[in-house]
Amino acid sequence: MPAHETSHKSILLEHPSGAKAEIRLFGATVTSWTVDGSERLFVSKNAILDGSKAIRGGIPIVFPIFGTEEKIKLPQHGFARNSNWDYVGILTDNDEVAVRFSLKDNQLTHEQRSAWPHSFRLNYTVAITANTLRTTLVVKNEDEDTFEFKSLLHTYFRVPNIEQVAVNGLSKLTYTDKVQNGAKVVEENQKVTVAGEVDRVYTNVPEEVSIEIENKPAFKIVKTGMKDTVVWNPWIDKAKGMGDFGDHEYPNMICVEVGSVAEWVKVAGGETWTGSQIITAL
Ligand code: BG6
Repeated sequence: MPAHETSHKSILLEHPSGAKAEIRLFGATVTSWTVDGSERLFVSKNAILDGSKAIRGGIPIVFPIFGTEEKIKLPQHGFARNSNWDYVGILTDNDEVAVRFSLKDNQLTHEQRSAWPHSFRLNYTVAITANTLRTTLVVKNEDEDTFEFKSLLHTYFRVPNIEQVAVNGLSKLTYTDKVQNGAKVVEENQKVTVAGEVDRVYTNVPEEVSIEIENKPAFKIVKTGMKDTVVWNPWIDKAKGMGDFGDHEYPNMICVEVGSVAEWVKVAGGETWTGSQIITAL
């Protein structure tokens, strides 16, 4: 079987090439992606996996808010990453092996539904080939009225040493620098490197961004339907402040998160919105 449920409430997806992915029902969080036998995603050794907190690593889904919102009383980054999703089943097409998950408003707690009072269904597909991982989020508005949301696929990439990492494709774009009180900055560097805390929302980002490690291409990230890309590394002090992140793990990860967060996405009643990324391990 290309996909089967494990004893710890996750789905293991296996491609004939040997590539694998594991997705927890909690948050529909992809917690592992291996290509050529090596793990490509970062999950903290201190990540809490009992469903009491969003998983620190892999690909948590940020929805329907990014960060916090004064008017919408939901925890940081919304409820999708903290909800138990339904496993819908396997879908296979050509060379891709895929599984689908879904989350509907009636699976939320009373508090969550009151904070974001809309009828919706989220469908989330995780698909692998020999060297790609595709994650596609479909938001269906099942209300009559328009609703709005923000969303991100919050991917934690595993890297051997952050000091040897560069992100390409962001040059000349404007970003909001959350480390500098939300200052708007134009990216002057051809390659974005990390040598301290980085927390930036790049806007109107072209479809393709890539990550290189030690001057060699490591990942290509192609997004569709989403405008923005967040780059995040907590560095030393922030890492120490997070209970579910090891003090010395920050050199081993970089978050490059595709999404639509700078502006609200509006979806009319009965309509759907799709945001997707295909990550290629190079
Ligand atoms: C990023 C945000 O997307 O997620 C950061 O830009 C935030 O500001 C980070 O610190 C992690 O958030 P959390 O809620 O998982 O600790």
